[in-house]
Amino acid sequence: MEIIHVSAECYPVAKAGGLGDVVGALPKYQTKLGHIAKVIMPMYRTKFLYNNEWELVHEGGQALGSQHFHYSVIKEKSNKLGFDLYLVDINGLLDREKIYGYDDDTERFMSFQIAVCDWLSKWSHRPDVIHCHDHHTGMIPFMLKYCYGFNHLANIPTVFTVHNAQYQGWMGWDKSHYLPPWDTWKGGLIEWGSSINPLAAAVKNSWKVTTVSNSYLDELKYMSNGLEKLFEYEKGKSSGILNGIDNEVWDPQNDNLIAKNYDIEEVGKGKRKNKKELCGQFGLDIDKPLIVFIGRLVGEKAADLLPESISSSIYQHHGNANFLILGSGEPEVEGSLEHLKDQFKGYMNTYIGYSEPLSHLMYAGADFLLMPSRVEPCGLNQMYALRYGTVPMVRSTGGLKDTVTDFGDYQGFGIRFNNADVWDITYSVGRAIDLYNNKKELYGWMRNYMMTLDHSWDSSANQYISLYQSLK
Ligand code: ADP
Ligand code: GLC
Repeated sequence: MEIIHVSAECYPVAKAGGLGDVVGALPKYQTKLGHIAKVIMPMYRTKFLYNNEWELVHEGGQALGSQHFHYSVIKEKSNKLGFDLYLVDINGLLDREKIYGYDDDTERFMSFQIAVCDWLSKWSHRPDVIHCHDHHTGMIPFMLKYCYGFNHLANIPTVFTVHNAQYQGWMGWDKSHYLPPWDTWKGGLIEWGSSINPLAAAVKNSWKVTTVSNSYLDELKYMSNGLEKLFEYEKGKSSGILNGIDNEVWDPQNDNLIAKNYDIEEVGKGKRKNKKELCGQFGLDIDKPLIVFIGRLVGEKAADLLPESISSSIYQHHGNANFLILGSGEPEVEGSLEHLKDQFKGYMNTYIGYSEPLSHLMYAGADFLLMPSRVEPCGLNQMYALRYGTVPMVRSTGGLKDTVTDFGDYQGFGIRFNNADVWDITYSVGRAIDLYNNKKELYGWMRNYMMTLDHSWDSSANQYISLYQSLK
């Protein structure tokens, strides 16, 4: 099959979170299964762009409302990522350093999607499926059906994956003229709550909808930032396919971003070396359990609870655990964490920012990884932690619920709690300290057992293929 993935992120080209990891890995595993998988994404000005060689494959022009824009499509020459990678360049709109966060994101991603549809409409053959990811690509299934310039592609099946329904790409009806000439009788298919809603449009118009875990699929029907009724209505064409992880990138045996490589035989020693490096860099105590958090410092991840949970844990458990936080996001949370690090020197530290190398060292060197998320469609961090023998401490929600069991249950290997609140987190920190200090055998068993779990893409990549095949 020929599969076209369209996404705003793809690791290592451009990544802001798990979407990048998924789109950087899934096509590779689909290619390994004997299919042709291609990724089309915007051409941001990232290091990957400058460090690789490209060939021009297409140039075209389209309009965004009354503005004409020129676009070009370039292809990475060496197939470095294990699949064909295409970048769409639109001067003045996509040529920025960051992926998101600009005032004109609506214009940027609308013009990207229009360019993608226009380019696909010029192909001399048809791909078997177009797989769109998150709201930045959510208008494509509609445009392929109802924009007059593209609707000769209407019979190409489209699949849309909801990685995160919190962000929906809302825009007012005053921007409807951005769409290339379209059948305005079909306005209801892009609308939700009196505005144009690209995520809702994707759910309504794509042939199939997937979410990145089964539990998240259920949760969307009662908690999806306003789209609950839509997810309930479209449940017949929706299914959950759990993300995998790229075992080649996330491999403690071969990871060159960590201080010491290790396998299951040497997990104790290996982790200790990495912990030593980490504790050295951040002034923490190697003999105390090290609990880390890696992620966006936003409400979804319950990052606002971190400052109070950390201070409450340090007081209540007499400083018997250390904490290290890597992330960036809401300025208030960043500020409180920075403040706390002075107050609890030697007990907690932070790195405010984004650092891929530090994240690897933390998965390898930490004893526990905390994820108190309020919403977690899948979550990849906990699966990376499992692969590196780091015990996940997770709130039972979405993909966290589907991938982590509690050590109190039969063969359980993690710490689970029900509420995103300071009390549950503090209590779980107590359980972590107890496990680390007093239940050493169980702790050792868990660490080893976790490393035997298989969360690679092999099975999920196949599930997507079966889904595409059902659309033929
Ligand atoms: P989300 O996509 O919602 O942010 P995921 O758990 O799916 O959450 O994926 C997060 C990904 O982003 C992981 O690869 C994680 O290691 C990475 N990540 C998040 N924040 C940072 C950071 N500050 N520095 C480095 N990597 C980060
Ligand atoms: C989103 C979700 C996260 C998921 C990732 C990849 O960003 O917040 O839970 O793992 O997408 O699907």
